[in-house]
Amino acid sequence: MSPILLEEGSHSDLNARQLNIFNSPKKGGSAESDAQPYLKKLGIEIIENRQPIQFTPNVNERIHRWAPYVQGFSASFVQSIFDQYKNEYANPIILDPFSGCGTVLVQSKINGFPSFGTELNPLLQFIADVKVNSWDVSPTYLIRTYHEMPKDRRSPAPSFLHSTSHFNPGVLKNLELLKGGIESIKSRSDKKTKIKNLLKMAFSSILIDCSNLKRSPCLGYAKSKRVYDDTPLVLLEQKVTQIADDLKLIQDDYSNFIHTESHIALTNAMDFQHNQQFDLVITSPPYMNGLDYVINYKIEMGWLDFVENQVDLKKIKDDMVVCDNVSKGLIRDFSESRSSYTNDWLEEIRKNIKANIKRRGAYRRHDMPYIVHKYFDDMYKVMKNVVSSLKSGSRFILVVGDSLIADVYVPTDLLLARIGLDLGLEIEKIEKARVRRSGQIRSYKLRESILTLIKR
Ligand SMILES: C[S@@+](CC[C@H](N)C(=O)[O-])C[C@H]1O[C@@H](n2cnc3c(N)ncnc32)[C@H](O)[C@@H]1O
Repeated sequence: MSPILLEEGSHSDLNARQLNIFNSPKKGGSAESDAQPYLKKLGIEIIENRQPIQFTPNVNERIHRWAPYVQGFSASFVQSIFDQYKNEYANPIILDPFSGCGTVLVQSKINGFPSFGTELNPLLQFIADVKVNSWDVSPTYLIRTYHEMPKDRRSPAPSFLHSTSHFNPGVLKNLELLKGGIESIKSRSDKKTKIKNLLKMAFSSILIDCSNLKRSPCLGYAKSKRVYDDTPLVLLEQKVTQIADDLKLIQDDYSNFIHTESHIALTNAMDFQHNQQFDLVITSPPYMNGLDYVINYKIEMGWLDFVENQVDLKKIKDDMVVCDNVSKGLIRDFSESRSSYTNDWLEEIRKNIKANIKRRGAYRRHDMPYIVHKYFDDMYKVMKNVVSSLKSGSRFILVVGDSLIADVYVPTDLLLARIGLDLGLEIEKIEKARVRRSGQIRSYKLRESILTLIKR
């Protein structure tokens, strides 16, 4: 489609961003046609396999529902992968290098499969760990400890956050009392530590509902939200009761799997060396121009004392697979480094993004070509680590979304497939799970894919 260029003087009420959107040659376009040249070179076709992959239905699933999360897998998606390969792997060992809140690991344990994960966000690693390693806690003891918590100890809100605008005064006071109550529980035994951690997780999971904020999916103020002073007390009680109910169910239905190994390391998937060999890797990396996994969880990270200031937040963010909200310094350093992964597709994409940004004159980040390049360099490092710990005959399944950046189509799934080939894997299939819209040009149809790589 050729661009409809605005004539000078017309649409003078549009700003530079709106003008770029108006003039974009990609309006109404789709990844389906833009992916064709790449697919031809790979010699494969994308198979339609529409299905709900997102976390949303997990609010009704035992254990998964203990903490709200936006960017996770649905339990049913993970289960569908296990079902698909049940005849190939009798008792598979599972890995998720980007564990998030632990959906893959929880579902593995429900099936009795040992599982491992890595996660860089300390809050998410904590939540995932509590979800898989508290199955032997007595529900009655949990409820009793909760009711016996001191009601008069106040622990202050994190000083680096704007808590007085995040929460109404009465809500804030009650949250500080609940935090004080939980902190005063003495972790004298392994059992008590697990209970305290369950209560901390429960507390973190109610914070956004108690606040004047919403996560949809990015964190922002919710204009017409009404929160009452006693909301923290009501919600925490509900959450603790829900966890106790699930513990009862686990102990009835999955008693054989309570001690099945499940471990999530708080570490960078780019450099962590596993001393295990895996049968199935199921994962979803951050999407390139997607969410900031640090800023989006800063409220919970601050209240649970995982971070003390903005510097701590920035440090975690800089170590993650890059998002388009990272510091300019980090990208400058990357652009000056000599040893990064690249290939001819990536070079072409980088060159085209650079040229389009120059032509447009205005773009949110002028270092976008390097952000895109760093994303694939980061993913190469993660995939290289994973590949070195795959058994032969194992599968590496990645769920990923593609992008349109400065009118340049970036086929993330196909580029990751190519990295897989470079690392000695075969492409078994690429399935399209849904159409997605993201970025400036909302009329452009992107896709979310399930990429299955196999190690022969
Ligand atoms: C799309 S989410 C994964 C969600 C997960 N599938 C679930 O169901 O909960 C991607 C995760 O990767 C984590 N992450 C980003 N860079 C990382 C890195 N270098 N090492 C480990 N984890 C990282 C983010 O904190 C985020 O939790």
